[in-house]
Amino acid sequence: MKSSNSRPSRVGRNPFTHELKFTMIEKIKIGLMSVTVFPVRLLLVSFFMLLAWPFAFTASLGRSEFVIEPQSWWRRFIDLCLRVIMRAMWFCGGFHWIKVKGERAASSEVPILTVAPHSSYFDAIPVTMTMCSIVTKLESRSIPVWGTLISYIRPVFVFRSDQDSRRKTVEEIKRRARSGGEWPQIMIFPEGTCTNRSGLILFKAGAFIPGLPVQPVVLRYPNKLDTVTWTWQGPGAFKILWLTLCQPHNPMEIEYLPIYTPSDEEKENPALFADNVRKLMAKALQLPLTDLSFDDREISLSRGPLHIYDYSSLLEFNQLVCRLGLRAGTTEKVLEEQARRARKMQGDRLGLEDFAQFLNLPVTDTLTQVHSLFDQQGDGQIDIRDYVIALSTVHRPSKSMKTLKLAFKMYESEESGEVLEQEIAAILEIMLGVKEVELSGVFLSLDGPDTEKMTYDELHHFIDQHPRFVQDILDFKNHPRKFCIGRPKSCNGQNHNKDD
Ligand SMILES: *[C@@H]1O[C@H](CO)[C@@H](O)[C@H](O)[C@H]1NC(C)=O
Repeated sequence: MKSSNSRPSRVGRNPFTHELKFTMIEKIKIGLMSVTVFPVRLLLVSFFMLLAWPFAFTASLGRSEFVIEPQSWWRRFIDLCLRVIMRAMWFCGGFHWIKVKGERAASSEVPILTVAPHSSYFDAIPVTMTMCSIVTKLESRSIPVWGTLISYIRPVFVFRSDQDSRRKTVEEIKRRARSGGEWPQIMIFPEGTCTNRSGLILFKAGAFIPGLPVQPVVLRYPNKLDTVTWTWQGPGAFKILWLTLCQPHNPMEIEYLPIYTPSDEEKENPALFADNVRKLMAKALQLPLTDLSFDDREISLSRGPLHIYDYSSLLEFNQLVCRLGLRAGTTEKVLEEQARRARKMQGDRLGLEDFAQFLNLPVTDTLTQVHSLFDQQGDGQIDIRDYVIALSTVHRPSKSMKTLKLAFKMYESEESGEVLEQEIAAILEIMLGVKEVELSGVFLSLDGPDTEKMTYDELHHFIDQHPRFVQDILDFKNHPRKFCIGRPKSCNGQNHNKDD
């Protein structure tokens, strides 16, 4: 698959990972703290959290989801108690003083605060200091103790799986935002997931759809040893708690930036509004912009023996098919159906018109871009099987064996179920996002006759035996393996016509 040159390569820049390395001195410090300060802090933190629970529980009694009850004196009292308790809890966790720059605007002025970068559960600190509402997964309501505290701040719940509920979430944000300050302000982490703070990823549009002024808030954790970052790949929740409680002091900085009022154009176009706020926040943070989004996380973190090696072109493909509305409707059944139709074409190459017909879509710029991604020979013709493999790969990045099986179904010969070596190479090129895949290593290490063909089961079996298949066995552009020595002829990448 080709990658358009309009965008710089994003390979190797994966902000969804966090790798911690310690020096010897840090290890000794952590060791000492673990047996002295840590247990005391953990006990105190737990104590304050438990202490907060009855307050939060009482306050949420008899509350309606749709109307704000009058602020009676006892509600105000409970609110004050909770703020004090939460502050004490963070204090015991090593967040002794928290630097606050700028000023938070009144809720009648700005209903929504957009907070970034989101990198940890310690990002709850500004929330407990302001008692703003947040947008969170419905599941978080059922976390013991913490769930009650979350419910106290009247979150807007999202059901991540359900397409319609996403709309409902936005409706609810709109409704509250337009209440003219009656509802608490909503703090939204527009990135929608945690990153390692190396850049700002794309913002989700939710906070920007109401088209009302927002106040950007930036967070900083200036500690040299970053113990707070909590991403998908990296230390888990408890390890982060442990390491953070072992630091003598955990500095944190919250900066309220000036209110941002959208222009008419931005009101019309939430994506533009979101992007302009993102630029402004990145500037305040002195961080680069990273053109990855919440949805790209799974693609850039794919695992398994055939994990995506270079995800840049697949990410680009994913963005385009999302734009075409093809991604949401993709199911296993749709993929099977497309694979069946692609098989029938028996490698016929499709021009743009035929491609549009295959997808039942009009020819648009975006569709043209998708088509050209697969135009390996630059003659305006594509092999539709490449498209189906790519779609299956981005649809289920971590289930690569399913994609492989689907791909085999499109290529295999009726009688033997075998697929030619160069076709397997073509399949893997799309799945891994690389070029010039060379399989001689695989065929060499199989003892059988030199058939240059393989069935799915044979390949599956081989991959099972080589968990580091991609790294150790495969040979592709920029990643040559020693196996090549035995077969110089087929190693120059000229033996099949998939190169461009
Ligand atoms: C954070 O993400 C960047 C890519 O954006 C990556 O290069 C870096 O290694 C990551 N940092 C850590 C500590 O893992």
